[in-house]
Amino acid sequence: MSNRLEAVVADAVEGIRGALMKHNVTFEEYRQGIGYLMKTVEAGELPLMIDAFLNTTICQIENRNFGGSTSTLEGPYFLDDAPFVDGALKTYEDDRHEPLLLRGRVLDLAGAPVADAVVDVWHSTPDGHYGGFHNNIPRDFYRGKLRTDAAGQYEVRTTVPVAYKIPDQGPVGALLEAMGRHSWRPAHVHYKVRAPGFHTLTTQAYFEGGAYVDSDCCEGVHPELIHADVRESGIKVIETDFALAPAVAHT
Ligand code: DHB
Ligand code: FE
Repeated sequence: MSNRLEAVVADAVEGIRGALMKHNVTFEEYRQGIGYLMKTVEAGELPLMIDAFLNTTICQIENRNFGGSTSTLEGPYFLDDAPFVDGALKTYEDDRHEPLLLRGRVLDLAGAPVADAVVDVWHSTPDGHYGGFHNNIPRDFYRGKLRTDAAGQYEVRTTVPVAYKIPDQGPVGALLEAMGRHSWRPAHVHYKVRAPGFHTLTTQAYFEGGAYVDSDCCEGVHPELIHADVRESGIKVIETDFALAPAVAHT
């Protein structure tokens, strides 16, 4: 068997060497780069930096290996102990934000419904935070688990999330800014869909025309994940069917 670690690391180093050569990077710039990486580690932002630049690539590889609906970033705010919810996610009591209905079906690759699938849904508060992580917001706010019925259907009410800024006060924010980029993610709803015998699907839904949909700092937006402004009796609806691939990769 080939040494997979050696193969991946050697190619990664080769890729970096190519970039250094191409741009004629100086010894002084090389030293600055090392200093920057040290600061990123000290600030505890190494995972943030790696996720911002590379997590989307890993999701693309998963998509290629498994098939099914397009997956994208999980992000750092999934909580596996979110409660099962019936009808509506818990929101701020005074949340007058625009109502949103999330619904759809979980299907297998042949289009047959998957009953009893568990759909975790989570998204930002109307002020751009996540329950259980920011501002002492309870950990069961704006998140919950749904179970699909015999027709593979799920449905839950909530309110529309807003664009979200990844931490931008540290080295990662400074790097993105110096590159002429920004630290915003477009408004999104996270999903994690699980059913026995199927590969877990982690994905997001985005809103057509929303701020930063075309310039996500984490590059996690795919055209097929962007939803048009559909309304039913005036209520905004995001309808998403999830196609689950078998648990075993086809490569
Ligand atoms: C980050 C936050 C998110 O809400 C997300 O979906 C992806 C990444 C972050 O802070 O890195
Ligand atoms: Fe998020």
